[in-house]
Amino acid sequence: MKISHTVRSILAYYWSALTRYDVHSPLLHDLVFRVIENKSRPVGYHFIEKVRREMREINTVVQSPDVGAGSMVSPRKSRTIGDIARTSPVAPDDGILFYHLTQFTKAESILELGTCLGISTSYFQLGNPSARIISIEGVPELVKQTRDNFEKLFPHQRRPKILEGTFEKQLSAALQELGKVDLVLVDGDHRFEAVVEAVEKIKPHLNREGMIILHDIHWSRDMERAWHNVQGDEEVSLSVDLYRLGILYYGASLREKQNVSLIPYYLKPWRIGLFASNQS
Ligand SMILES: C[S@@+](CC[C@H](N)C(=O)[O-])C[C@H]1O[C@@H](n2cnc3c(N)ncnc32)[C@H](O)[C@@H]1O
Repeated sequence: MKISHTVRSILAYYWSALTRYDVHSPLLHDLVFRVIENKSRPVGYHFIEKVRREMREINTVVQSPDVGAGSMVSPRKSRTIGDIARTSPVAPDDGILFYHLTQFTKAESILELGTCLGISTSYFQLGNPSARIISIEGVPELVKQTRDNFEKLFPHQRRPKILEGTFEKQLSAALQELGKVDLVLVDGDHRFEAVVEAVEKIKPHLNREGMIILHDIHWSRDMERAWHNVQGDEEVSLSVDLYRLGILYYGASLREKQNVSLIPYYLKPWRIGLFASNQS
């Protein structure tokens, strides 16, 4: 990740981003107020975050811990579970967003590419305890640790299913097993081709109001290119860039296609109320 790329992408995002006061279409309005800016913590939040904290203390070494484009923070070939737990899973705020998005979309079937230690997966399951979730992970030691985590977090409930293996090998099996998918998180291989191919493969399996979340969309030039590529797809009726992740909506409930970047209103305070424009 080049610093010049990061600075440029932050500036471009900041410049174009709208706040909640610029949002007028009903779907986007609901998405902002019920999901993106909904910071209420789910019951179960503390259990997931306790498991995350416990994993930070585990010194078991994992070989080749990151298939795909590698780790943003630590490109070493071997890392401890503790090190991975500190840097790879999504932040608690994103977990909360996944929880609310699962509830908002009433997702019954969820697919995840990139389980890592199961943190994001657990937030999806919390969002709908009866949802069928399949998550794919290529590193066996992470799969083992995640299964232990799920036993702790969901002792008597439905648990997410993990398919061990590369996305290339396991994606078709996951899609076949789920049939139609309501919500997808792509958070693994950060290479342009891998992201675009995965989205193309998943698209025909999406339910009518389905959504795909792409994580780390500005992580590298490759990821940014992949985001712009999938966002430009005419079948996408709404794309929302939150900088650290993007949401793609393929449903038909919007009159015209919208690609928007959104930023919390307190980071653009002059856009409050009267000064805001009617851009969406
Ligand atoms: C950023 S982590 C996922 C974090 C997880 N979604 C969370 O927030 O808790 C990415 C994971 O994807 C896995 N991965 C990357 N490319 C892969 C591939 N091509 N096949 C299978 N797993 C892959 C890595 O091993 C890593 O554990």
